[in-house]
This record gives sequence, structure tokens and C-alpha cells, in this order.
Amino acid sequence: MSKVSALYPGSFDPPTNGHLDLIERGAKIFEELVVGILRNSEKSPMFSLAERLEMLKTLTAHLKNVRIEAFHGLMVEYAKSIDATCVLRGIRAVSDYEYELQMALMNRKLEPTLETVFMMPADKYSYVSSRLVREVAQIGGPVKGLVPEVVEQKLREKLEPAYKFHDEMQEATARSSGAKEKKRKRK
Ligand code: PNS
Repeated sequence: MSKVSALYPGSFDPPTNGHLDLIERGAKIFEELVVGILRNSEKSPMFSLAERLEMLKTLTAHLKNVRIEAFHGLMVEYAKSIDATCVLRGIRAVSDYEYELQMALMNRKLEPTLETVFMMPADKYSYVSSRLVREVAQIGGPVKGLVPEVVEQKLREKLEPAYKFHDEMQEATARSSGAKEKKRKRK
């Protein structure tokens, strides 16, 4: 059997532990794995392309057959330009399937020689998505365990006012319930 080079395309805004889990699994079965970050001018991402490139390079530095790149335009054309014969995508739950199937079949129509391979991340990440991580972080909520530490740090830097406000509210709530408890004991 020939050795296969695969492309794992996505927005990675930001990269999550689920993405990293899939990259590590993919790196084990493909000879070469290129993580392609979509340079998407329609969406306004939370993290710039340069930031996403930097984070993913740091996170995958230990994987010698993994390369991080950016692409624009049609994914199938980019895959062809880097000699990838396979596209890797993650499926977390049944809800992902419909969108992924549609995309895989459209990509097959555009480029019949390119195969899509689906892999499942560890079940502990089955509910983790970049969209929900952004939503929680934008309100200053905890994302520990959902994203790698470097990403958590970047989110904290980027959303400092939200985290500060959230922490202050938590402290105020703790102080007020502490005061109520004291009052109750005194009675
Ligand atoms: O992480 P995402 O946002 O689910 O990734 C979606 C991605 C980047 C894989 C998809 O939007 C894509 O391939 N975009 C490039 C443009 C393209 O080829 N579109 C046709 C898809 S059928």
C-alpha cells in the first residue's frame, strides 16, 4: 500500500484539545499530515491567521510529520497543490455527520481522486467546539481542559476585560455569601 499524505483543513479559531487529539491520531496513520488553516476573509475570526499559525506550530512541535500551513480558495485545489490524496475531518457526534457528509460529497464532486477520512476525537472532547470555547471565553468563563494551555493563555490575554469582570463578579458573590453565612451563624 502506498504511503498517504493527508490534509486536515479547518478554521481552528481557536485550536481546541479536540483538534489536537485528532492531529495526534492523524499523525500516527498518515505519512505526512498538513494542518491547513483557512484564510477566510468572510468570517471575522477571533484570532488572526498569524496567531492561529503560531499556536498550532507550538502545539504540534513534537510531531515531526505534521506541518502547519495557511490556505485560501478551494480546499480541494490546495490539497492537490501539496500532493495530499486524503482529507482528514473529525466527527464528534451524529450532529456533525450531515454537514461533513455534504462537504465530503461536494469535495468528491470537485475532485474525485481526493478521499475524505473521518476520525473521532476522544469522547471527553465530543462536546468541545471552537465556537463554544469562544462563547464561554468571551464571557470570561473557564476553558481549562477544553483548549491547550497556550490557547487558554492567549484567550485570557485577548479577552482580559471579560475575564477581569467575571473574576470580580465571582469574588463579590463569594464575599456576599460569606457575609450571609456569618450573619446566619450569629443568629
Ligand atoms: O473548521 P471548519 O470551519 O469546520 O472548517 C471548514 C473548512 C475550512 C474545512 C471548509 O469551510 C473549507 O474547506 N473551506 C474552503 C473552501 C471550500 O473548499 N469550500 C467547499 C467546501 S465543500
